[in-house]
Amino acid sequence: MSLVVENGHKECVNGHKVYVNGKNATNGSHVNGVNGEVPWEKQFLPPALDIDDRARALAVESRLSSLVLCGATLQKVGEVFTREIENGLSKRPSSLQMENTYIPELPDGTEEGVFLALDLGGTNFRVLFLELRGGQLVREDVKHYHISDALRLGTGEELFNFLADCVLDFLRSEDMVDRELSLGFTFSFPMKQHSISSGELITWTKSFKCSGMDGVDVAALLQRCLWDRGLKITVQVLLNDTTGTLVAGAHMDPDVAVGVILGTGSNGCYMERADRVKHWESAHEKVHDVCVDIEWGAFGDNGCLSFLRTEFDNEVDGSSLLAASFTFEKYIGGKYLGELLCAVLRGLAKDGLFPAEPIKGELLSVHVSMFEEDNVSGEWQRTADVLCAACAGAKISRTDALVAQHAARLISNRAAQLVSVCIATILKRMDRAHASVAVDGSVFKKHPRLRHLMDKYIALLAPHHKFTLLAAEDGSGKGSALTAAIAARVAARKS
Ligand code: BGC
Repeated sequence: MSLVVENGHKECVNGHKVYVNGKNATNGSHVNGVNGEVPWEKQFLPPALDIDDRARALAVESRLSSLVLCGATLQKVGEVFTREIENGLSKRPSSLQMENTYIPELPDGTEEGVFLALDLGGTNFRVLFLELRGGQLVREDVKHYHISDALRLGTGEELFNFLADCVLDFLRSEDMVDRELSLGFTFSFPMKQHSISSGELITWTKSFKCSGMDGVDVAALLQRCLWDRGLKITVQVLLNDTTGTLVAGAHMDPDVAVGVILGTGSNGCYMERADRVKHWESAHEKVHDVCVDIEWGAFGDNGCLSFLRTEFDNEVDGSSLLAASFTFEKYIGGKYLGELLCAVLRGLAKDGLFPAEPIKGELLSVHVSMFEEDNVSGEWQRTADVLCAACAGAKISRTDALVAQHAARLISNRAAQLVSVCIATILKRMDRAHASVAVDGSVFKKHPRLRHLMDKYIALLAPHHKFTLLAAEDGSGKGSALTAAIAARVAARKS
């Protein structure tokens, strides 16, 4: 449905009701709830574009209406997500990996020992030395290493040899080259895990695309590269950054049962009943719950979410490193939000609604956050300066800057809604009296509105489930060491 209404706001493009200023646009009847409350459906609406030129405002809103999702559409996304979860857990075809991480319990405050942790997922690789005493982190030494484009796009062998060289360099600087240490490897890509310490890469995501990794166990490859350098390091756990975030979060708050990353990429994990998980490669009779890595970045890759996809998403996907893959991540991940904003402004420019087409690659997700910040504080000059630079010096007026801020708002609002659908669905599935959700990632930390929007939308979508969003710190470092300690505890209990 596409309906433009005078002096109002079109709500939904997916065949649902259209509400304008409290009236049903198709028949004019009032839709406000009892006692003047804003009805449920209307609470998903972003505010209308507030510029003096009403004709331009309406034209821009009409052009961008496909980015506005109504409550009914979000409910439908939730239903599809639930179905895909069930399929994934049962090993039926699904766009969700629902990977068993083999982590059967969370920190209990007894974690002890010294650990190395490796964190690979973005353009920086981190090596950490961590010491836990009575569950508390008492020492953390860290070194960052840049991963060049050549390494991210070269062969897997070269990449993993580089990682092992970094570990050697780190141990030399810590004067620990001969030390025997357990290592937790946070590998923030989808994996098929065979155990808590082994797993194969399924596909690269974000800005990695190394060759020769099909069917390769990434923990075993790392282990070999470390041994080749004479290091006495044992890869004890292989985990995803969401899992590390959940574990690190549970260390702060025992109600944490969900881990979420909203950074360059996006993903979630949660504690699932072990009997609902069909992929096990080891005995698990005594396991009650197990952490499942959802890999929601790939949600919809089988076409089940095609009703959401806009022309702007097609443009972002088409020019991405891994086209037609991880389509959901391209709606919410920091790697893509800037490109999405660029695609939207290019679309508006083609229709004469924006003065120039921004150059591809010039707008980043930090700019989406910046435009949102300016919008919150009623500023426009900084937005205009960024746009002028991104549009090769084109003149950008205050109204143009407000139009771009509106586009950033729609993109942010949709991202918040989609991630909220996933979290709300998980909360309903776990059905706990209260659950905390540990969240990490640059987009969550830096975007001025995202957290507030997520609080609002999760509450609207799962109204009977109490929850708290908890900003988690360093799941890939601390979470990795805690997971290694948990693995050691579980192994000791078994033997
Ligand atoms: C990866 C996930 C990861 C997420 C956040 C995605 O691209 O597939 O495994 O958790 O990024 O880093």
